Amino acid sequence: MRALAVFPSTKRVHLLDIPEPQLGGATEVLLRLREVGLCGTDREIASFEYGDPPSGADHLVLGHESLAEVVEVGRKVRNLKPGDLVVAMVRRPCPHAECRACRAGRPDFCETGDYTERGIKGANGFLTDYVIDDQAYLVKVPQVLADVAVLVEPLTVVTKAANQAHAIFHRLPYDPGPQRGLVLGAGPIGLLGAMFLVADGFETLVYSRDTENSKVAELVRSLGAGYVSSTQNPIETLAKHSGTFDVVLEAVGFAPLMMAAAQMLRPNGVLALTGVPPEGATAELTAGHALRDLVLRNKVVFGTVNAGRKDHVSAIQHLEQFMVLFPESVRKLITHRMPLDEVPQMLTQKLGIKNVVEISRAA
Ligand code: BGC
Ligand code: ZN
Repeated sequence: MRALAVFPSTKRVHLLDIPEPQLGGATEVLLRLREVGLCGTDREIASFEYGDPPSGADHLVLGHESLAEVVEVGRKVRNLKPGDLVVAMVRRPCPHAECRACRAGRPDFCETGDYTERGIKGANGFLTDYVIDDQAYLVKVPQVLADVAVLVEPLTVVTKAANQAHAIFHRLPYDPGPQRGLVLGAGPIGLLGAMFLVADGFETLVYSRDTENSKVAELVRSLGAGYVSSTQNPIETLAKHSGTFDVVLEAVGFAPLMMAAAQMLRPNGVLALTGVPPEGATAELTAGHALRDLVLRNKVVFGTVNAGRKDHVSAIQHLEQFMVLFPESVRKLITHRMPLDEVPQMLTQKLGIKNVVEISRAA
C-alpha cells in the first residue's frame, strides 16, 4: 500500500510502498483512510523544521488530521463496527508513571514531553491507505458529517481552547452575560474559531492579513461576524476602533502579534494562544506596561495544544451545529482536494484555506 513519508536525514519527501498492517490485539481496529487534512505543522515537518520519526526509523509517515472508515475490529472492540467513520486522536501518552496527565488519560496535558503524536512526533501518521489503531484513540463521527469531518481535528484545537477558557471564566464572581470574542488569524483554526464563537452567541470579530474585500473576509461576514484587515489597522490601534473583548483566540503564530494580543482584552478577559511561533522569534514589548495591564485588569493568558476525548466530542457536536447554521461556509473551508501523489508539491506552497488529501472514497 501507499504511504507518504518524510526522510529527515536525506531531506526527502516521497511516496513509499509498504506492507498493509494486520490486525493483532483484541482492542485494535483496522482503518481505511478516507481523507487527511494538511496544515502548517505538516509544512514545517516537510521542510524539516519540526517532527521526529518513530525511534530507530529513518522516516515518518506524515498526516495527523484524519477521517477513516472502520474495516475490521478486534474481538474486544465495543462501540465500533465495520463501516463506521472515525477520527483518530493525534497525541498518545508518555510511558512515565509519574506523568499525572498521561496516567489520567490526558496526554494533551503531558508533563514529561515524552508523548508521541501520530504523523508528527515519534509515531507514523495517516497519509497512507490503511492503519491500525486502538479503540481508545478513535472517536466515532456521524455519517452525515462525512464530507466535512476531516475538519474535526483542527476544530478540536478550538474546542479545547474554549473548554479551557470556560473553566477560567468560571472564576468570575459574576455572570459575564453576552460576550465579545476576537479571533486573530483567518486560517482554518481562526475561521473554525469564528464559527465556534458565533454559534455560541458571541459578538465576533476576525482580524487578519487578508484585505476587507477578500474571499476570506466575505466568508467571515457570511457567518455574521465582523472582519478587520491588519494591513490597514495595526494591532496597536485596533482596540480604539473595535473596542476590547472578553475572549481573544490567537491562531497566527506570529510572535509580535501574540505578545500584543492581551491589549485586546477587557478587564477579566481571557487570551488563548494556539499559534506556534518559530523557536528564535523575537518581539518588542514594553514589559512594564504589559505586566501592569495583566495584573491591574485580572487578565489571563494561556497556551493550549492538542485535545482530549471530551474536546473531540465537543468538536463533532459543534461541527453538526455549524452544518445547520452555515453549511456553505463550512464547505468553503475545504478549498482543494488532491490525490496522495500531489502532496509533495502541495506541501511547498500555501494556497487556499484547508487542503485535503483524498485517499479513498465511500464504498
Ligand atoms: C496538531 C496537534 C498537535 C500540534 C503540535 C497541530 O498541528 O493539530 O494535534 O498537538 O500540532 O504538534
Ligand atoms: Zn494540524
